[in-house]
Amino acid sequence: MKLRVENVVKTFGTHRVLDGISLHFAEVQTLVLIGPSGGGKSTFLRILAGLEYPDPNGCRVVIDDEAVVYREKELAAHRRTIGTVFQAYNLFPHLTALQNVTLPLEKVHGQTRPEAEETAMAALRRFRLDEHSHKKPAELSGGQRQRVAIARAIAIKPRLLFFDEPTSALDPEMTGGVLEVIEELRDEGRDFVLVTHEMGFARRVADQVALLAEGKIMEFGAAAQVFDAPANEASRQFFAKVLKY
Ligand SMILES: Nc1ncnc2c1ncn2[C@@H]1O[C@H](COP(=O)(O)OP(=O)(O)OP(=O)(O)O)[C@@H](O)[C@H]1O
Ligand SMILES: [Mg+2]
Repeated sequence: MKLRVENVVKTFGTHRVLDGISLHFAEVQTLVLIGPSGGGKSTFLRILAGLEYPDPNGCRVVIDDEAVVYREKELAAHRRTIGTVFQAYNLFPHLTALQNVTLPLEKVHGQTRPEAEETAMAALRRFRLDEHSHKKPAELSGGQRQRVAIARAIAIKPRLLFFDEPTSALDPEMTGGVLEVIEELRDEGRDFVLVTHEMGFARRVADQVALLAEGKIMEFGAAAQVFDAPANEASRQFFAKVLKY
């Protein structure tokens, strides 16, 4: 994807959570957003996904030469083209795995029940969940739940995938399975924006990286460069801290 962001500001009350985010990637397949907790990564991802409005300050978000228009009607169309997966709790607890995947296909994408079930089963099968399709989220492991959420995200045939810390609520064993699925999708050539605290994984999958802290972009660019030769002191300090653990 091509991505150009100019001067995105987001204020909650008096708190300026995003303080003029600008970045530009002529071509990026896996963009990984990293940075300290509270720095604004989720807020920024939600704005890119059209789930949140930026402040009306004349900012611009352009994805593949198309400007995102922050008006409800246009945003609804924008959201239909993006598969999103969040940290946790994003499945409906009263629906089975299968119903969680079929719901947006029927309600948002206009598929009939049989079409939606076929699409959903194919997506679940792909992530080795077919035998769990009748279970509700509470009857699934954390890793299985997250794979259902990923199946749901790809079932709509999105042009982009936005994942926000998809493994942060999982134990290490479950994390591995979810990261494998993400890597597989990446290898298929899908375009990703991914927020993660898993530095090893970030390094492995990212082709471009943006480091966000205190509502500002500290640094962005090719993964090898940002990870191995960060340009500024603040980035070096961040890496020194996260790599210690
Ligand atoms: N709806 C909201 N109302 C008020 N403040 C909010 C809201 N959403 C986020 N914030 C604040 O914005 C700041 C940035 O939050 P955000 O969730 O974007 O950070 P983050 O980088 O994703 O952090 P983490 O790594 O912990 O997930 C935080 O101080 C948070 O408290
Ligand atoms: Mg977050």
